[in-house]
Amino acid sequence: MHVPNRTKVIPMRVTLPKLQERARGGEKLAMLTCYDASFAAVSDAAGVDILLVGDSLGMVIQGHDSTLPVSLEELAYHTRLVARGSANAMLVADMPFGSFQESPGQAFRNAARLMAEGAQMVKLEGGATMVETTRFLVDRGVPVCAHIGLTPQSVHTLGGYRVQGKGDPAADRLVADAKALEQAGAGFVLMEAMPSPVARRVTEAVSVPTIGIGAGPDVSGQVLVVYDMLDIFPGRKARFVRNFMAGTGSVKGAIEAYVKAVKSGEFPAPEHCF
Ligand code: KIV
Repeated sequence: MHVPNRTKVIPMRVTLPKLQERARGGEKLAMLTCYDASFAAVSDAAGVDILLVGDSLGMVIQGHDSTLPVSLEELAYHTRLVARGSANAMLVADMPFGSFQESPGQAFRNAARLMAEGAQMVKLEGGATMVETTRFLVDRGVPVCAHIGLTPQSVHTLGGYRVQGKGDPAADRLVADAKALEQAGAGFVLMEAMPSPVARRVTEAVSVPTIGIGAGPDVSGQVLVVYDMLDIFPGRKARFVRNFMAGTGSVKGAIEAYVKAVKSGEFPAPEHCF
């Protein structure tokens, strides 16, 4: 019987300290969502720095109208697939709704599950309320990416997918939240849907890298949902999304174009900003 020679590829993933150092040196970081092994391999080869197994999978993979129904087991499954398909990019897994809000202990147990599947960091939605949990996780060896601004898991308290941080009090709150989360040990601060000047204030207020989605150009890196930037998600396209498939003709070409546009600062352009 012929036994295929399957040499296991040992991942040499870029680490959080390395990415923080590169961002401090002025390099823009390119983050992209990813949910399976094939996209993971293509994104890795295209030079994506950080793969985010986002709970957006509830909408773009599962067809729900929000991210709320995604379970920890589903997130763990997709994290396993992305880990298997990639070897270089840093791997960040989202903590789904209901898996971390109850207590720091609950968050640690569930974060540990995602780390066991290959995640190097977990992402938690929420501002000041997540400070204690962030500190608890980081102190126990779980790197945390904070997610502030538009936090889709709170769609029903926010009253829709709306731009956040409008007006001085709301902007001041975002800056204060980011500083408190950094103090608690967050390694990245991800900011979604806010006016560019507010994201700039946050970036200037913290020393860890900031990653924006609909947060303008004055941040340390960008993230998009991969199916949005390939223009294959049938829903309404947000203002901050650019179709990178146009003019490139292949998935790999589109992702390479995204990485290049993020690194050069060409994306986001004014038309993608609030
Ligand atoms: O779940 C996700 O894809 C996200 C990004 C939109 C940042 O949280």
